[in-house]
Amino acid sequence: MPVGMPMPTPPNQRLENHRPGRHNAWKEGGIVPKLKNLPPNDLVPKVPCLFSAEEIDRRIGELAQEISRDYSNSDLVVVGVLKGAWIFMADLVRRLTIPVHCDFVRVSSYGSGTTSSGQIRLELDVTTEIRGRRVLIVEDIVDTGITSNWLLEHLKRRRPRDVRFCCLLDKPSRRECQVTIHYTGFLVPNQFVVGYGIDWNEHYRQLPYVGYLPDTTSDDPSG
Ligand code: IMP
Ligand code: MG
Repeated sequence: MPVGMPMPTPPNQRLENHRPGRHNAWKEGGIVPKLKNLPPNDLVPKVPCLFSAEEIDRRIGELAQEISRDYSNSDLVVVGVLKGAWIFMADLVRRLTIPVHCDFVRVSSYGSGTTSSGQIRLELDVTTEIRGRRVLIVEDIVDTGITSNWLLEHLKRRRPRDVRFCCLLDKPSRRECQVTIHYTGFLVPNQFVVGYGIDWNEHYRQLPYVGYLPDTTSDDPSG
């Protein structure tokens, strides 16, 4: 490291500097305008870590191995659900050892709060021909399961050979409809998570790890 360059602090050490109490600012929403003026690394102490970049990387390696094995000799189309799955999908497909086609859908189910509206709006659809092909939907997080079920029905209408789900995070405590998830990165508690592509109100997607907003649950829209 050249003289004068600041040594990067590992995320976990930075989190030790997390000061309880400061996170009440979330409840007032007042912290959001201030964040605009801060460099990304200053976000880190404010969002406690659930899964570090290293843990995520390791788990993605395992998932990629499993998926590559299960889909060897298959005509696989990986469909990422924007925007939340963008970073996860980019890392996942680069670890696959089989040929794949990539496409995306974009749906919105959350408004600006932390609870799902339950209403799904399709904002971008796949353009790849999936008829007769194997489809793996890659999601950031399965919460109530409403989005996953909706997507399953939506893509099944195009008569793929089969459709499976891969999600980075699964929050089973909030499930409202049954979803079979074939590949799960991590289980998460009922807390509002952000980072590694996942947002709160479009903030925090760029965090290299998955953290949570303290004192929030997904049932708590004031969070
Ligand atoms: P579901 O339809 O309730 O399963 O929710 C699906 C979508 O809601 C996910 O793809 C996320 O975009 C969003 N979501 C659910 N839980 C969280 C969370 O804890 N943090 C951020 N987004 C979430
Ligand atoms: Mg989202």
